[in-house]
Amino acid sequence: MRYLVTGGAGFIGSNTVDELVRRGHSVTVLDDLSAGKEANLAGVRERITFIQGTITDREAIEKACRGADYVLHLAARTSVPRSVKQPLETNQINVDGTLNVLVAARDAGVRRVVFASSSSVYGDTPTLPKHEGMPPAPISPYGVSKLVGELYGGVFHRTYGLDFVALRYFNVFGPRQDPGSPYSGVLSLFITAMRDGGQPSVFGDGEQSRDFTFIQNVVIANLQACETPGIAGRVVNLGTGGRYTLNYTLRLLEEFAGRPAKPKYDAPREGDIRDSQADISLATQTFGYKPHVNFEEGLRRTWDWYCSQH
Ligand code: NAD
Ligand code: UD1
Repeated sequence: MRYLVTGGAGFIGSNTVDELVRRGHSVTVLDDLSAGKEANLAGVRERITFIQGTITDREAIEKACRGADYVLHLAARTSVPRSVKQPLETNQINVDGTLNVLVAARDAGVRRVVFASSSSVYGDTPTLPKHEGMPPAPISPYGVSKLVGELYGGVFHRTYGLDFVALRYFNVFGPRQDPGSPYSGVLSLFITAMRDGGQPSVFGDGEQSRDFTFIQNVVIANLQACETPGIAGRVVNLGTGGRYTLNYTLRLLEEFAGRPAKPKYDAPREGDIRDSQADISLATQTFGYKPHVNFEEGLRRTWDWYCSQH
């Protein structure tokens, strides 16, 4: 099969591309390298087509979609606090860009678009775990942008018959997550701070919790969401079903590092939700999803990977 992966030079994208190539699929990546790196694709570079371009460029996305069976649409501005600072840019890429992808996919007659949505569409609801029947209530421009992507996908499904599936990822972590910006995912920042002898910064009291999901679970689910017939129009959570506080992750990292973390506690971050946990029963029902790597094992593998990169 022929896959187009937008954002394929990023963290989730490049790990997914590796697995697609391993399974013998033909892969095109469209990425503007604003956050991703060509180095993430080093192992498969000779076997894929790489296009450096942006999803906000209609011609570029039209060209990339031509001949594709499946589109995994992962390109986005991914940071919640950055969206609070720069709502227009987030909207332009995550909303306008997604609309371009949907139009191009429709016109190219692709079999399915799988969209990287986010648990942030739920907002800060007290009900846990979060299930797909709950009304979305995002509290950041980023969360709004992901919800709009889902809604557009639903409309393209009903109006034009485009096969569309949205996966609401819950805090994904693992090898290749870029720790290089203050907007990076928290575990990549904690791990590299601990590895380099620095002090992890915790925004708030550290008792906020996330359903941290190891990348390999997400990679497998991405493929299952493409391949499973008869699930068009579904919006599905993707997590582990567990909930881990930042303080707990620091305790595990202390064990791995063999020294105290000595975290620095700062003010809570704007736009943050307090707790997050996925109900994953719909994913199991819809495409047989099972998180094969649990949080602790995933964190251990991730720690080892960052240490090996040093
Ligand atoms: P990432 O930043 O590593 O990957 C995003 C990729 O998109 C990067 O390679 C970046 O260069 C590319 N990109 C950004 N703007 C682009 C544009 N205009 N045109 C083309 N490419 C562009 O982030 P990630 O963690 O791999 O996230 C992948 C997707 O999953 C995103 O849509 C993100 O919102 C979503 N998501 C991630 C998480 C998580 O915890 N990592 C959770 C929920 C949803
Ligand atoms: C993350 C993803 C977002 C995704 C969402 C879905 C990234 C950068 N963000 O957002 O794309 O849609 O999950 O679940 O991948 N924190 C600290 N110290 C730090 C950094 C963060 O304490 O140095 C705290 C934050 O304030 C927050 C928690 O850690 O409370 C998680 O933050 P972050 O990793 O940025 O993830 P989300 O905002 O949950």
